[in-house]
Amino acid sequence: MPASIAVGTQWGDEGKGRVVDVVAKEATMVVRYQGGHNAGHTLVVDGETFALQLIPSGILYDFVTPVIANGVVVEPLVMLAEIATLERKGVDCSRLKVSSHCHLVMPYHQALDELSEARLGDAKLGTTKRGIGPAYADKAARLGVRMEHLDDPPTFRRMIAAALLDKNPILRDIHGHPGFDPDELADHYLTEIAPKVLPYVVDTVSLVHDALERGERLLFEGAQATFLDVDHGTYPFVTSSNPVAGFATVGAGVGPGVFDQVIGIVKAYITRVGSGPFTTELFDETGDKLVEIGREYGVNTGRRRRPGWFDAVMVRQAIRLNGCTELALTKLDVLDTFESIKVCVAYEIDGVEFRYLPDRFTDLEKAKPVYVELPGWQQDLTNLREVADLPDLAVSYVEFLEDQLGVSIRLVCVGPGREQYIVRGP
Ligand code: GDP
Ligand code: IMO
Ligand code: MG
Repeated sequence: MPASIAVGTQWGDEGKGRVVDVVAKEATMVVRYQGGHNAGHTLVVDGETFALQLIPSGILYDFVTPVIANGVVVEPLVMLAEIATLERKGVDCSRLKVSSHCHLVMPYHQALDELSEARLGDAKLGTTKRGIGPAYADKAARLGVRMEHLDDPPTFRRMIAAALLDKNPILRDIHGHPGFDPDELADHYLTEIAPKVLPYVVDTVSLVHDALERGERLLFEGAQATFLDVDHGTYPFVTSSNPVAGFATVGAGVGPGVFDQVIGIVKAYITRVGSGPFTTELFDETGDKLVEIGREYGVNTGRRRRPGWFDAVMVRQAIRLNGCTELALTKLDVLDTFESIKVCVAYEIDGVEFRYLPDRFTDLEKAKPVYVELPGWQQDLTNLREVADLPDLAVSYVEFLEDQLGVSIRLVCVGPGREQYIVRGP
């Protein structure tokens, strides 16, 4: 019963969507296991761009069943809009399956996210303001509404009423928002949204296990990334779910024994959106160059991503946290014109060298990068498809990273297009 996990090893936007699109060719099912429409995954196929938020990145193959599993929080209107956009582009979304256990991101979640960020001022987290944090908070507080409740009007009404009993006073008294009327909201969801969403809703645990029992290869897709993980990331500047590979078990309802491959996705440099510490952050024209060549602007929010040099300390830690069996390196072509390229190989904190992330946030904030500088290859890689065609200095960069990280880089991406990648090794 073989299964793979694709997981981000940095702060997101590593190119997970495009790597999943490459790897999904070998799978029959692609299962998203956490996050929500805070994600933005870009696929570029035959010059056409697909920006996915909730729908798994395997959707473009008609032999793949895309599954949104229980660990994901779903804004149903965003899901329906995404389906409509894909169908306008000729993609059949009738194969999409959504777990009846998925929690809904409701309008009051989004309002609370936005208002709370505004209220925090300089202390804000820089969330995507999509309501993801409040939706996961309600799930843990047992005040959430699930997909299955859309099919059970009395329960849906009861759950919405209970949630608003809790939220309306916060919205009104703390934020000066008028609040939401439970009956109006429930009527709208049950009459307008439920009939459109319910056809996709199934028991995804059975679906996934039936496929595993047939011996099919499944790919589990993480959103966000290791250092946005609510347990293992740079808390509190994290998302409210667990993107790490281990959560694929909880987020989809499978045991750990089914996985034989964990693909860590790494960008050849690093970016972060939103607030929080960033050891290798660049504030100079080199950073601007990474942003401009790498087009580092958020897929959903349009925010400029903060750029920095590759941080091997973080990725080493990510390899441990996820149990990566191999890596996929993306955006190597973005470095094509750089005369020299830096890699952070260790942190120096109060005179002590760290090869892994310090345990405490206060230490992380003090970390200074220890860099090794490598010569750039100064050659266009975007049309290369064979490992033998890679210039020596590009090979040296990839091998240097492998040496630092101790895990093989099996896939190297040299452009956003579906075909722009090179397979290394067996
Ligand atoms: P994700 O959230 O991890 O799926 O990544 P995003 O889609 O948010 O951001 C990655 C961006 O880089 C997208 O615009 C991709 O089209 C683009 N991209 C992915 N791989 C490559 C690559 O190898 N080279 C270049 N130049 N762009 C890439
Ligand atoms: P993909 O899947 C990059 C960041 C936000 C913010 C923090 C919390 O495309 O890699 P949230 O809205 O989740 O409560 O915001 O997490 N963030 C992402 N950054 N890529 C993402 O997704 C992200 N999803 C959330 O910018 O710092
Ligand atoms: Mg993204």
